[in-house]
Amino acid sequence: MEKLPVLAVLVSGNGTNLQSIIDHIHEGKLRAVVGAVISDNENAFALERAKKANIPGVVIQRKEFQTKSHFEKAIHDEVRRVHAEMIVLAGFMRILSAEFVEKYPNRILNIHPSLLPNHPGLHAIEKAFEAKDEFAGVTIHFVDRGVDTGPIVLQDKVKIDSTDTIETLTQKVHALEHQLYPKAIQKVLWGK
Ligand code: GRF
Repeated sequence: MEKLPVLAVLVSGNGTNLQSIIDHIHEGKLRAVVGAVISDNENAFALERAKKANIPGVVIQRKEFQTKSHFEKAIHDEVRRVHAEMIVLAGFMRILSAEFVEKYPNRILNIHPSLLPNHPGLHAIEKAFEAKDEFAGVTIHFVDRGVDTGPIVLQDKVKIDSTDTIETLTQKVHALEHQLYPKAIQKVLWGK
């Protein structure tokens, strides 16, 4: 059997992007396996999604470690244990240190709900809405030492209609995320 590349997916919350990755793998549209779902939040619903898909869920919480470096070492150990070749951040709400990121050049992906470089950081959808931008969007990028700054892999936009509310816009952006992230991972792993 063909050996598929292994992903380690890092989460903190609901995990709808994780779900979309799992679904695309099941549908044969993304050729990879999720070796582990690593959560820094023991209550993340993403862990339930992992369990349902028979993927090992691992809880690594910052509060369990004296330093950020020990916390990141635990993540690093888990990534190595499952032989993951790609780290996929899917709603992981922590900023990884430069030391960690530099161990994985072009091997950490992040999804951000804006057309980067516009609106980096938190509340990106709200920022686009409040700025009355013509478009909102989604960016998948490699993670470098900055925040939401690394090389862009894929980006796509949605029109902000005059009838949109923050809720409808958020729905549109999330729907786009769920299509774009598996596509970007497939592209990085297989070049298409
Ligand atoms: C997404 O909007 C993603 O762009 C951002 O965090 C959110 C995670 O949502 N980085 P989910 O946990 O995948 O549902």
